[in-house]
Amino acid sequence: MAVTGGVLVTFLITHMLGNLKIFLGAEEFNHYAHWLRTIGEPAVPHRTVLTLLEVLLGVSVVLHMWSAVSLARRARAARPVKYHGKKKSHAHGYAVHTMRYGGVIIAFYVIWHLLDLTFFVVNPKGADATPYERLVADFDPSRWYITVWYVVAVLLVGLHMNHGIWSAFQTLGLRTAGRDKVLRALAGGIAAVVTAGFVAVPVSITFGWVS
Ligand code: HEM
Repeated sequence: MAVTGGVLVTFLITHMLGNLKIFLGAEEFNHYAHWLRTIGEPAVPHRTVLTLLEVLLGVSVVLHMWSAVSLARRARAARPVKYHGKKKSHAHGYAVHTMRYGGVIIAFYVIWHLLDLTFFVVNPKGADATPYERLVADFDPSRWYITVWYVVAVLLVGLHMNHGIWSAFQTLGLRTAGRDKVLRALAGGIAAVVTAGFVAVPVSITFGWVS
């Protein structure tokens, strides 16, 4: 979980930073989208590096979900009998529920998002438009419900990251009584900054600050 989560967090940070280029204008944003497809050229053919990154991302997502399911199974097998009274095992606690159901909603969101901005199936503009035009059309004020959907999904991604990064610190053995607060703040801080960066784009378009 920690290794694949690390790949996904790295992707989210770079994806969020790339999205912020929308604030530099259409030309900068479209240039960035074009650059993603031409990294390494002419040493390697068109789209080679991006395709390799997509494969790494896809494999990480699959392994991340697979690890989650097998860890949940192991936790259930280790404690088949429920605790008495109100006390819950970790496997039945709040964080696990948030991660499990949040993770499922995030998976649906990613499918929607790919159909929207990678395959353009649910985007108001088609393949002929520029990446900037597709984004601006997507979060047009008349489509405020799409913005709400993206914001809700990104907030879930933020919660997921907060708990995930914190768990990874534990898995890596970094957590000690003395460092507890610092590590919690670090996990929360990274999650909050990434979430705010993601939210900024659709909200700014819907409010007309970017057009
Ligand atoms: C709400 C803010 C977001 C915006 C405005 C946004 C925008 C975009 C755009 C424009 C693309 C197409 C990039 C290109 O082909 O040049 C894209 C791709 C993608 N986004 Fe997002 N995104 C957002 C949030 C997210 C989140 C939270 C996730 C993951 C949970 C995510 C996952 C992806 C993936 C997997 C791709 C495909 C990458 C590829 O195949 O190259 N995005 N996004």
